[in-house]
Amino acid sequence: MQLEKVKDLTRQILSKVQSDSAMELFNNLEQGKMLRSQLILAICDSEAAYNLCAIVELIQSASLLHDDVIDGSDLRRGKPSINAIFGNKSAIMLGDILYSSAFFELSNFTPLVIQSIAQSVSCLSIGELEDVKLEASFNANADKYLNMIKLKSASLIAASSECAAILANAKEPKKYYEYGENLGIAFQIIDDILDITQDREKLGKPALSDFKSGKSTLPYIYLYDEMDAIDKEWLVSLFGQELDFDNFTKLKEKLSASPLSRARAKAKEYGDKAAQIAKELGNNELQSMVTAMLERDV
Ligand code: FPP
Ligand code: MG
Repeated sequence: MQLEKVKDLTRQILSKVQSDSAMELFNNLEQGKMLRSQLILAICDSEAAYNLCAIVELIQSASLLHDDVIDGSDLRRGKPSINAIFGNKSAIMLGDILYSSAFFELSNFTPLVIQSIAQSVSCLSIGELEDVKLEASFNANADKYLNMIKLKSASLIAASSECAAILANAKEPKKYYEYGENLGIAFQIIDDILDITQDREKLGKPALSDFKSGKSTLPYIYLYDEMDAIDKEWLVSLFGQELDFDNFTKLKEKLSASPLSRARAKAKEYGDKAAQIAKELGNNELQSMVTAMLERDV
């Protein structure tokens, strides 16, 4: 119900550019869990908060449109991506239209909100740039991975949380930023774990897609860390490749030992920090969001 209202608002904002072509492309987009809107509405329930949700969802959709072009992904949420159906050029331009429509609407807000969201889009883009750089060869450095996901995935979640707090006239918006940042990092680690543990049906794409497309996420970094020189060579030789049945099975088996539980523990570390902040802020809903996020299977 609340999220339906946000979806309606995104459509209303986009309709202001008066482009049937843009609306037609937009109608092919699948909305996801709308985590950022859920977070905003858990902090502030006002008309302005709903507008902020719609703005953030438009930015999020724009970033995924661009990301699918950058990653050459044909699937998004189990359905053909916009770039797969209409080509890269249309996907990029739709992303630009969503992004600029969102910023037009954002100009109605107080400068603190505008600056926080604008800064987070720079962070998203810098994180994506870092991700592209890391794909050049197998990355075995956990700190580089964690810094990249902080920028690429956690920054817009953190800014959404902070801006909702500003709209609610909360005392310490920076604490809400910190909450969102920790939640966002945990969220991306869990996402990267699910890419390994879930099947095609749940993921909407084949399992181990990250590794095959050149992303060495935390479980792979931990696996590398635990391997001897010969196995390290084997792992690196598979990076960015289609996997045959034997290598797929062997890789999944090796990840299922300690690397996946170490990665889960790392996600929990960030989740616990977020939960602690939510507790200090006295917001039970924010606390439950952490638990649901850590326990999710999609
Ligand atoms: C998904 O990563 C991508 C992101 C979380 C952010 C991408 C950000 C940009 C492309 C910059 C956007 C800039 C503007 C101006 C809108 P992933 O590939 O790891 O996840 P996936 O499996 O969902 O594709
Ligand atoms: Mg991608």
